Amino acid sequence: MTTWITICDTCKQDDWDEATHSRPHGQDLADLVEAQAEGRDVRTRRVSCLMGCKHGCNVAIQASGKLAYTLGRFAPEQDAAEAIVDYAELHAQSTSGQVPFKQWPQGVKGHFVTRHPPLPSDDQD
Ligand code: FES
Repeated sequence: MTTWITICDTCKQDDWDEATHSRPHGQDLADLVEAQAEGRDVRTRRVSCLMGCKHGCNVAIQASGKLAYTLGRFAPEQDAAEAIVDYAELHAQSTSGQVPFKQWPQGVKGHFVTRHPPLPSDDQD
């Protein structure tokens, strides 16, 4: 099952200012995450707004049939991108999407916002 990193490319942190920032912080983070994910066992996509605007920058980590997570409060920096991709790769390697805490990259600790259980399969309707 492929793990996807969905990056909000319209997030702006509190210090965002039209006069000094040419584009949203989310685009900066998306560039960094995409570069970090090259050749790794994850895929990336961009969306405009994950509805967590007050605690950007935000990403979602999802795979079919697995626990899904939203993470936020990231700065658009290389360390954050590395931690996001490292975590997503561990999510990809896990059977349930649950990565043991002791394996979490330091850079994702304190950034979890939501967790979503996988949907029941259609034959349980
Ligand atoms: S702008 Fe990023 S969550 Fe709304």
